[in-house]
Amino acid sequence: MYGLVNKAIEGLVKKEFGEDKWLEIKEKAHFKDHGFISMKPYPDSLTYSLVGTACEVLNMNSKDLLEAFGEHWLLYTSQEGYGEMMNSAGNSLPEFLNNLNMMHFRLGQIMPEMIMPKFEVSELQESSLLLHYKSERDGLTDMVTGIIRGLGKRFECNCKIELISAKSKGDNHDIFKVSW
Ligand code: HEM
Repeated sequence: MYGLVNKAIEGLVKKEFGEDKWLEIKEKAHFKDHGFISMKPYPDSLTYSLVGTACEVLNMNSKDLLEAFGEHWLLYTSQEGYGEMMNSAGNSLPEFLNNLNMMHFRLGQIMPEMIMPKFEVSELQESSLLLHYKSERDGLTDMVTGIIRGLGKRFECNCKIELISAKSKGDNHDIFKVSW
């Protein structure tokens, strides 16, 4: 994944647990460079290794870590020059969720090696919808939960998030029921 993702992990660890914990994680994950370059693609194995090692060092389960990372991702990308893109993606939770593909498609034009997640909204009602999440990657469902929770805060709606189909349990893809 692009270095932007790894930098966001670094930022979260440093902010919540301090510089020393990050240095320990970096060393245990065998990452020797000084830092990450946002616009450079790195192997997915590095990102997974950083997350796995962070869970060990911080004594956290991956669900809690990835959910926290999802919320942090929204704040981090807003501060890293993507705030305008976020603002133009919608003024409400359903509108924003409906524009996730468009947002990643635009990002794909500046990050051509990006392997994009795919999202689709169905069964849109007055106060709920289904969000379909498809990815070539595994194991990032809890990150999506964290991002949706962060979006709920952004739009000041107290949203409820239920995973009603899970790729990890043999379903075709993840489906979240989001109610607000
Ligand atoms: C402007 C804000 C955003 C930026 C700059 C951004 C950028 C990126 C980048 C660079 C990647 C790594 C893909 C790769 O390198 O192959 C990624 C992955 C991902 N993004 Fe976004 N993204 C943004 C907002 C969102 C939002 C709001 C969601 C909502 C759910 C989201 C969901 C994901 C997921 C789940 C992945 C993991 C990739 C996968 O599932 O295969 N992103 N994004």
